[in-house]
Amino acid sequence: MTPQRTIPPTAAPLPFGNLLRSVGSFWGGHKHQARLVSELKAHYAVRAVYLVSSGKAALTVILKALAVVSHRRRVIIPAYTCFSVPSAIVKAGLEVVLCDVDPNTLDFKLAELEGLLNEHVLCVVSTHLFGRPADTARVKQLCMGKGILVVEDAAQAMGGQSGDRLLGTIGDVGFYSLGRGKNMTCGTGGIILTSSAPIAEAIEAEYASLPEASWLDVVRNWLELLVMRIFIHPALYWFPAGLPFLGLGETKFYTDFQMFRMDNVRAHLLNGWQRRLARANQDRSSRARWLIEGLDLVRKGVQPIMGEGSLFLRLPVLVRGREAKEAVCRLSREQGAGLSPNYPATIQEIPELAGQLAGRRYPGAQEVVDRLVTLPTHQFVSEQDRLKIDRVLGVQVELSVPGNTVGGDPVTRGAGHPHVHVRNQRNGAS
Ligand SMILES: Cc1ncc(COP(=O)(O)O)c(C=O)c1O
Repeated sequence: MTPQRTIPPTAAPLPFGNLLRSVGSFWGGHKHQARLVSELKAHYAVRAVYLVSSGKAALTVILKALAVVSHRRRVIIPAYTCFSVPSAIVKAGLEVVLCDVDPNTLDFKLAELEGLLNEHVLCVVSTHLFGRPADTARVKQLCMGKGILVVEDAAQAMGGQSGDRLLGTIGDVGFYSLGRGKNMTCGTGGIILTSSAPIAEAIEAEYASLPEASWLDVVRNWLELLVMRIFIHPALYWFPAGLPFLGLGETKFYTDFQMFRMDNVRAHLLNGWQRRLARANQDRSSRARWLIEGLDLVRKGVQPIMGEGSLFLRLPVLVRGREAKEAVCRLSREQGAGLSPNYPATIQEIPELAGQLAGRRYPGAQEVVDRLVTLPTHQFVSEQDRLKIDRVLGVQVELSVPGNTVGGDPVTRGAGHPHVHVRNQRNGAS
């Protein structure tokens, strides 16, 4: 743990004013949930909105609802995605099916997806990873007439657009995450939205069975947010980043997560969300472009993953290979540059799923695991940090010089191969 300027991999803006004002909502009522639901319905022009405790709770509720009205059990997801996604599928009692991804887009290999669509498939989860719009409209076309629904995982893409369609509203049903590293945050939280009457009816029944948040959870969430709001600053972030028990950036498969309705305090924390979200997304996009322009990525052999309408919750880039990634991530940890290795394995490698998913290969997803790092795009990234990121990415240019090991072998110097359930220390992955 070194006291030095340390950039967090993501940082959702949260004004202190919102935190303080939300204290007034500890004493009950549902005023802020009702306000938030009606604002979301109007903004996204959808029939129904449900507020829950997290993105994975949102996905679980959606899947349980879909499973009630169908005998089908398979859910197709990208072979490279957040581990919360298969966690929700297993929690809903359904079967995970993987489709490989294209490393240049992080989206499904659509030809492969087409081959997987059959009478056993309940739904396909189309995912806008890092805020880069996936081709959900095309997935919908492929599913049309086959009785397969499209769930839009917009956990990382609230406020984004694909053409004139708002992300989260293109699939049959969509959800956002309001977790701490997302576009907007209230600590933990999730939003479900749909315009389909039968899906809304099925979700309504699931939602009705969810408990209210406990007092203890509401207080704990608020206190954690307060601490995060203080320590997310680069002058202080070295401290929580150096405490492994906090689990910052940990990405893990687990099904015993809590599910409840969003409370009034969380909803109050989101007051003014439209303005705040628009500004934060705009800031991230322009910072991503400023990074791309200033880092001379091509000369370094670094390929940014762009895409029309990308929100750049983080800036995803592909480095040359596994060794380069390890060197870059190690140097970033040492220097507090805020680069993240993201998910440490493909979904196939999650030990709890090994029985279900053995046999097939997902070379695109494996390439992403080996080569993808994300650069921070949030409000705290300064010119000084851009220079630091430049130096960190430059390490792979030195690596490519024969015989050069850039200050020692990356493995023996503790970079460690990514493997499932390892803690990524200060490199947030969720
Ligand atoms: C792509 C994706 N889907 C789903 C989730 C689950 O959201 P939450 O962390 O709010 O449970 C996440 C969050 O990390 C995510 O990144």
